[in-house]
Amino acid sequence: MDGRSGSRHRARNSNQLLVGLVQLPLDHMQIARAAEVLHTGGLVAFPTETVYGLGALAEDEIAVQRIFATKQRPAHLPVIVHLADTSIARRYTDTWNEDAQQLAAAYWPGPLTLVVPRLAQAATAAAAHLPTIGLRVPNHPWAHALLEEVGTGIAAPSANRFGAVSPTTAQHVWEDLGDDVEYILDGGPCEAGIESTIVECIDTPRVLRLGAITVDQVGEVVGADRVVVGGATTVSGNQERHYSPRARVMVIEDTHHLAQLAAGPDVAVIGPAGKVRGVPNVTFGASNVHEYAHGLYAALRDADHQGKHLIVAVSPEGSGLAAAIRDRLQRAAAQ
Ligand code: TXA
Ligand code: MG
Repeated sequence: MDGRSGSRHRARNSNQLLVGLVQLPLDHMQIARAAEVLHTGGLVAFPTETVYGLGALAEDEIAVQRIFATKQRPAHLPVIVHLADTSIARRYTDTWNEDAQQLAAAYWPGPLTLVVPRLAQAATAAAAHLPTIGLRVPNHPWAHALLEEVGTGIAAPSANRFGAVSPTTAQHVWEDLGDDVEYILDGGPCEAGIESTIVECIDTPRVLRLGAITVDQVGEVVGADRVVVGGATTVSGNQERHYSPRARVMVIEDTHHLAQLAAGPDVAVIGPAGKVRGVPNVTFGASNVHEYAHGLYAALRDADHQGKHLIVAVSPEGSGLAAAIRDRLQRAAAQ
């Protein structure tokens, strides 16, 4: 299949996403084709349980450099290497500590990225020449099948332009990257909806990015009193402005003046269903934090599609996933 017929194929699959919100059954023909594209140096977008990734074979330095060019991502920000299972991690690291070992055992496959010392020569471009590497075993049948088929690590950041909202459907990828990516695997919408939690396991365990695995869950495994949160500049999502739609985002906790803020045709209101009930211009009301995370990025994108100029986002309360959602909202709102 050449690039053109690939486009037609994507368009047809994307339309299916408009009617259904369920994970699509695994299509082995598509997986085989995607693996072929990767083996010939191409880029493939694929679903994971968090967001869609823009993948290249981790050892193909030229293809990995194309990821940076396609995303318009600064060269100093490393890319996560995805693995079919824990045993493949040995190709990239030989010195991971007890914390990494235990976290991998507890949460892989799953939405957790471990930053561990990198083997010299392994996936240098993906690691942006750092002495460490971010590794993750995703828990999604399509991602897993693709990783098994290629038999090596796949370097993949989120499949969006740098700084924009991460894609949670194949259609989002297509809208963002179009023909700049050779093949888009359409596995349906991503379940978690926000990115993996990143934990650096070098000294004391350090959560570099909040995400779908909570800080408490990390603490349960390595000891809550040992976990440090924050303090990394090599994490692109930690740039103050990130995950941003075109519309201005205003984050509020107190809903006293929400009805006034929400008035006006070019406003979209998103938030916990209980807090936005009865308010005008609500485009997304989430019944719980899982639903909030799952639908957040699609809601931000929808507001742009509808030509809204202001998104008023009501923060979810609480720790865990709610904290990760607040983190994304604050970055989307940063000027
Ligand atoms: O859920 C996810 O993590 C998704 C899916 C596709 O797996 N990927 C993702 O990738 O969010 P990206 O590139 O958008 O964010 C990965 C973050 C970046 O901020 C990067 O700087 C950080 O991980 N990272 C990767 N390797 C690292 C390393 N060796 N040290 C510190 N940070 C690292
Ligand atoms: Mg990203």
